[in-house]
Amino acid sequence: MRKIFVHVALSLDGYIAPEGMDMAHFDDPRYKNWGAKWGALMSWALDQQYLREKLKLGTGGKTGPVNDMIRHTFERTGAHIMGKRMFDGGERGWPEEAPFHTPVYVLTHEKRQPWARPGGTIFYFVNEGPERALELAREAAGTRDIRISGGANTIQQYLNLGVVDELKITLVPVLFGGGIRLFENLREPLPQFRIDRVIEDAAATCLRYIRQ
Ligand SMILES: NC(=O)c1ccc[n+]([C@@H]2O[C@H](COP(=O)([O-])OP(=O)(O)OC[C@H]3O[C@@H](n4cnc5c(N)ncnc54)[C@H](OP(=O)(O)O)[C@@H]3O)[C@@H](O)[C@H]2O)c1
Repeated sequence: MRKIFVHVALSLDGYIAPEGMDMAHFDDPRYKNWGAKWGALMSWALDQQYLREKLKLGTGGKTGPVNDMIRHTFERTGAHIMGKRMFDGGERGWPEEAPFHTPVYVLTHEKRQPWARPGGTIFYFVNEGPERALELAREAAGTRDIRISGGANTIQQYLNLGVVDELKITLVPVLFGGGIRLFENLREPLPQFRIDRVIEDAAATCLRYIRQ
């Protein structure tokens, strides 16, 4: 059955992004180490063969269960949903061939025309809220799954709507000491999850939870 899932990397102290990693502070010298922290959070994935190819980082890279899991995550996904702050950072950092290759629905107050990238990614800017974005993603995804890509604000809205079937958290042994917390602003009744799969790797622990 088609699933709605989240897959993010989380620091050991519960942050999905370090302090300073936003449009207002990218170049602020007070937060100059955000890039190193983000690199530490993502290195488990950027070392994998599949992602290196996808992001055009070069050949080589690790193969094995984590690499397979990343490939499966991309292949199962027929549409992505993300928040405008994640999009803003990505617009600055993704390669020209953005690494989604599906329609991507961006929750935003900004009115903007769709933006097509080489390789099949088309960003659509949705002003009518998370339920409308999900409706559009369902229409676009066909039989494939829908990924709520992030950031935290967007994931929290879908958790509060009670529609997230699967939560994939890759827990990375780095401490941020501040930043954007994933699990905040959640409302009762809280969705409950059970552990479904754990992949242990020297660089990270990949946890998959299924909604009960
Ligand atoms: N660790 C990971 O795996 C991971 C994954 C994804 C993202 N991230 C990081 O997470 C950070 C962004 O997360 P975030 O929680 O700050 O923000 P976010 O969820 O990416 O975006 C929030 C923004 O989206 C727009 N938005 C959200 N809901 C809306 C609604 N219902 N209606 C209209 N607009 C809506 C608003 O922007 P406007 O009002 O400006 O339109 C809002 O400020 C980035 O640094 C990103 O790199 C990390």
